Amino acid sequence: MTQASISALTSASQAREGNDPIFRLNGEARARAAAGESILDATMGALMDDAGRIAVMPSVSEALARVPAGKAAGYSPISGSPPFLEAVRKDLLGNSDLLQTSVAVTTPGGSGAIYQAIKNFVEPRHHALTTDYCWGPYPVIAQHLERDVSTFPMFSPDLSFDLEAMKQGMHQHINSQGRLLLILNFPCHNPTGYSLDSSEWLSIAEAVRSAGEKAPVAVLLDLAYHRFGGESADLWIDALPTMLETTTVLLAWTASKSFCQYGARIGSLVALHRDHEERNKLANALGFTCRATWSNSNHLGQLAVTDLLVDPELSNRADADRAELVELLRTRVEAFNSAASAAGLHVPRYDGGFFVAVFTPDGEKTAAVMRDVGVYVVPLKGAVRVALCATPETEIPRLVEALRAGIDQAEAEHGRSA
Ligand SMILES: Cc1ncc(COP(=O)(O)O)c(C=O)c1O
Repeated sequence: MTQASISALTSASQAREGNDPIFRLNGEARARAAAGESILDATMGALMDDAGRIAVMPSVSEALARVPAGKAAGYSPISGSPPFLEAVRKDLLGNSDLLQTSVAVTTPGGSGAIYQAIKNFVEPRHHALTTDYCWGPYPVIAQHLERDVSTFPMFSPDLSFDLEAMKQGMHQHINSQGRLLLILNFPCHNPTGYSLDSSEWLSIAEAVRSAGEKAPVAVLLDLAYHRFGGESADLWIDALPTMLETTTVLLAWTASKSFCQYGARIGSLVALHRDHEERNKLANALGFTCRATWSNSNHLGQLAVTDLLVDPELSNRADADRAELVELLRTRVEAFNSAASAAGLHVPRYDGGFFVAVFTPDGEKTAAVMRDVGVYVVPLKGAVRVALCATPETEIPRLVEALRAGIDQAEAEHGRSA
């Protein structure tokens, strides 16, 4: 072995993938566009206007600009700025009784909230449980923490939520691990776009309550896209009282999507429990993880977002700014749904949010065929993910045509190999 080949990295760190597959595809799409090709890049989960520029909320820029420099420069408390945490808890829970059952910490975006949940509610070498279609970083974060994620089939054959599969997964986890962390990302599930309806939420709540009678159970609701959920945006709240009868409920909140501030890295994990002493333990455990990882969070971002949530005039303007973006997205969703249906694409129920999945026998093949004509989507197992948040309405016919061609080719090859 030569001196140069001796690595001091630990064995686990020797062959890490340094980039994220979506950021890598996005980089390739940008490079081709910069070289003069006509590229439609529907990979990234950032909302773009119809001219292809990142959507910025003017109220948010103003809130950031008006934070006094001397305040922003100082450390925030380790667990987060108390007014920010109160504003986030109220943003999620309003002034309901649930507010009094919650504690919270600041995290670097929703990613930090997920890190917190997996670190503190999954034992080393155990698994969290989520849907088979899920946000790619869940297992990455878990594996980095020497834990993992296992999944259950998300859809029944009629493309409704597969409650029985979830119950079976919960049962297995409780039997094999003696405990459970269940992660659900609704409304506007990434990558499928699916939002649970009211009866699905209530059945899930009852299954969770019942599981909590058998073992320690925590449920993480990853609410990254809840402000874009249209009519189903707030249905999750009705599930909380039943879940809280026996379990800990965790809510992952992020300003990345709600305030279009992906770069600010401002998020929160809110933990709810009926018992006061348990809430103290939760606040201490989560605060400890803040100290042991990123320490204090971005103070400027917390101060600006607090203002956006509590200052009545600014908060009205933020709501109006966001409403315009929700409307922009709604028109794309409508245009996509009607074009997809005309082209015979197989998609789950989709009524809002940044993404939709389109089913195909071979996601990799479909995405590769689409890239040949300059259209970028994210390959998944049995589907591709389309970021409508980044697709101007005028480009939807091109997108659907490329999807149809990519799926036709995958189906032809699948038929040949079957
Ligand atoms: C499902 C889901 N959860 C959480 C996040 C976390 O986002 P961030 O860390 O940027 O706030 C994202 C971002 O894409 C997401 O799609």
